[in-house]
Amino acid sequence: RTRAAITAVGHYLPENRLTNADLEEMVETNDEWIRTRTGIEERRILKDDDKATAFMGAEAAKEALEQRGISAEEIDTIILATVTPDYLFPATACLVQKEIGASNAYAFDLSAACSGFLYALTTGANFIESGRAEKVLVIGADKMSSIIDYTDRSTCILFGDGAGAVLLEPSEDETGIIDYIHRSEGDTNLSLYQPAGGSLNPASEQTVADRLHFAKQDGRTVFKKATVGMADVSEEIMEENDLTPDDVAWLVPHQANLRIINATANRMGLDSDKVMVNIDKYGNTTAATIPLCLYDWKDKLEHGDNLILAAFGGGYTWGSIYLKW
Ligand code: ACO
Repeated sequence: RTRAAITAVGHYLPENRLTNADLEEMVETNDEWIRTRTGIEERRILKDDDKATAFMGAEAAKEALEQRGISAEEIDTIILATVTPDYLFPATACLVQKEIGASNAYAFDLSAACSGFLYALTTGANFIESGRAEKVLVIGADKMSSIIDYTDRSTCILFGDGAGAVLLEPSEDETGIIDYIHRSEGDTNLSLYQPAGGSLNPASEQTVADRLHFAKQDGRTVFKKATVGMADVSEEIMEENDLTPDDVAWLVPHQANLRIINATANRMGLDSDKVMVNIDKYGNTTAATIPLCLYDWKDKLEHGDNLILAAFGGGYTWGSIYLKW
């Protein structure tokens, strides 16, 4: 069957940096705690009030198109993963479509929190494999600063803003997306969620006063689930495809916490020099972490390298992808 290959990668990161030292001025925390518990040193924050997720997604998409040397009119489909859409509707993907001039595409958003990029990538790959599309833009973009409570030290230290975009096209050789495992489990305990703004708790003066439009997380519970979940699916995809640690060139993990990343790499039997880590520079950018890793490492990747992408996030959602670069 036709495989879907990533043929270009683009990115966008805001200029403005929020360092651990800055956070020390804002909440009761310290650089040492943040670095040892999470691996994060700084994050990027989009300061422009009139710009949000669509802007960052469009910038990343433009860079991917430029890299590939094609026009936006050639795009068939745009899938954008985010938990911080510009509006609840219309879809942020449609705003990106307009901004980049992808007039022949149809566009939609996908909601799977930190696993959003993985789900979007396999959705796009399925369109290519079925022959329904030739060029699919897959974007992961989040302006997490728009839903973060900068008085809550348990969440504000974790997140940053950013976007990444990849172009998927039919592969001309054996490269491309080979296999994936996706899982979800409805988290009715709501250990990671944004309480208000949806149809259950629409915005009101009370929801604003109660700070219910900010993301809430029971960090300990999510940490345990994420550590097990991400390691499980990464090990499983290696077993399913008879991959030994030597066969794997890179682990491309969602960047939520360095300790979760290390636990996953350990279970896979991978040395740290095979693990993409940029959480120190950007924090957790939710749907953007994996394409931002691919962007940062693109010059080191060699044709035919075996990559394992893995993520865990709110939902719960989690999964892994085996991709030959
Ligand atoms: N600075 C200093 N102390 C802090 C801070 C802080 N910023 N935040 C919490 N603490 C304190 C706590 O109050 C607690 O004190 P206590 O023992 O007196 O109650 C102590 O530090 C330990 O807190 P824990 O929550 O147990 O710390 P933990 O080691 O679990 O680290 C963290 C917290 C970093 C949030 C971790 O739990 C984590 O990474 N969780 C998972 C995050 C994740 O993967 N999310 C999923 C993806 S996100 C998405 O899908 C959108």
